[in-house]
Amino acid sequence: MKKNTILENILVEKLVFWWKWFARLKSDNKDIDWKAIFITWWVIPQSVVNLRVLKSRSDFIEAQLLDVVKKSPIEKENKNNIYWMQAWIPWINIPYEEQLKIKENQIKESLFHISKLQNNLEISPIVPSWLIDNYRNKIEFSFWKFISKNQNKEEHFNLWFHKQWEFSKIEDFDWTILISKLANDIYKEIKEFAKASWYPVYDQFDQKWFFRHIVLREWFFTKQIMIIFSVNHKYEWVKNLDFIYDFLNNLVKKYPQITSIYLSLNDNKADIAIWELELIYWKNFIEEKLLDLTFNISPKSFFQTNSFQAEVLYKEVLNQVWDELKDFNKVLDLYWWTWTIWMVFAKHVKEVISVELIESASKDWELNALKNNLTNISFVNKKVEDFLKSYLENNQNCDLLIIDPPRTWIHPDALRDILKFDSRYIIYVSCNPATLSRDLAYILKESEYKIKKITPVDMFPHTHHIETIVLLWK
Ligand SMILES: C[S@@+](CC[C@H](N)C(=O)[O-])C[C@H]1O[C@@H](n2cnc3c(N)ncnc32)[C@H](O)[C@@H]1O
Repeated sequence: MKKNTILENILVEKLVFWWKWFARLKSDNKDIDWKAIFITWWVIPQSVVNLRVLKSRSDFIEAQLLDVVKKSPIEKENKNNIYWMQAWIPWINIPYEEQLKIKENQIKESLFHISKLQNNLEISPIVPSWLIDNYRNKIEFSFWKFISKNQNKEEHFNLWFHKQWEFSKIEDFDWTILISKLANDIYKEIKEFAKASWYPVYDQFDQKWFFRHIVLREWFFTKQIMIIFSVNHKYEWVKNLDFIYDFLNNLVKKYPQITSIYLSLNDNKADIAIWELELIYWKNFIEEKLLDLTFNISPKSFFQTNSFQAEVLYKEVLNQVWDELKDFNKVLDLYWWTWTIWMVFAKHVKEVISVELIESASKDWELNALKNNLTNISFVNKKVEDFLKSYLENNQNCDLLIIDPPRTWIHPDALRDILKFDSRYIIYVSCNPATLSRDLAYILKESEYKIKKITPVDMFPHTHHIETIVLLWK
């Protein structure tokens, strides 16, 4: 079949991985009838679509969505939907129960071949998100002239998300269901202020003009808000930033939940929000609480973006080995990023060692450990594969391994070395069912570990993202 061939009236069956959907070709030609088709783009299962062939291989076709001929029966217009391709919520028109079914099926699908390696695979029901809407505690908006799908025009001013796949465009809307009403209200005030000032928005192509980004961080348990206001301070027509200070002073009077404001003095050529930070209001961090722990989070620090569900996820991780926790002397936490999983474990075991590549991710860990009276932890700023090699050479061991690797892969040396430990349990937390499945197949083949339990947890409603916790034991 030639590239660019149009395939009409194809029924979409299911999601197989990431945003690849699966369908089958129906044809009178028995050579190609029933051939597998992988569709890239957002589609809803059971819709009927027209496709364009991108690649045709002997056993499958890769195709791109052209248009939807018949809507899926599971699709229901969400009253909060203002535009279904709005960045970050492509599944907004799929009712939440159906979203969960799709995610659960995707896990089963990805792990299907594992069942040949181990009988009786137990997949627990997916743990739904505590909040379905308004769940993000961090959001970044960009100032940009826009040409959107709905409004095919360019203006002197706008502020919203970058369009998915098209970073030179943004959408123009006034609110999003991803964040709370309070955060939406603050966003709108800032947008109106910037627009009324008549200073121009930054142009990424020309590398000039003024307003650049707004980052809002809102903590759900403590109700504190941080604002990072990014402007190009080298723009020659703005002599001083007093008008911004005045506006923000009034804003904090109106919204006492704002406890921290930074200006990001940003003449960086790259399109990033955080550059030279200047604290202009009150605290240099905001505080969040998770599972009896308090965290101070500074503007550059990572943190799970769905606070309520982070708590649910960590509780699930703890519960995997809850009965045996008190017997663990040493826990290794590999790829720890937000320094939260190990703090949760440090409360219950004798010692935790955490390994992470990016130094800046560790920024607040020492302070937070002290704040929570945790002295039994150490942080290693190294590649996991290098750390494991020297750790094993020194005949060190551990009682539990927790791994939460990056989406794309675990270095093969690290995966091999993880299996050299005597540890009775491994907890594998994964945000990618495809790599999880590949790694589990390796672990089952190359070691005595068996899968005890698989628990999918939804952290990001209205998206295809899914977190999976796997308990392995030997
Ligand atoms: C999925 S995140 C971990 C999430 C984290 N456990 C949490 O609770 O938020 C993966 C992390 O692995 C780190 N990473 C990637 N490759 C690495 C390597 N070779 N060695 C150590 N860390 C690595 C990334 O910097 C990232 O922070």
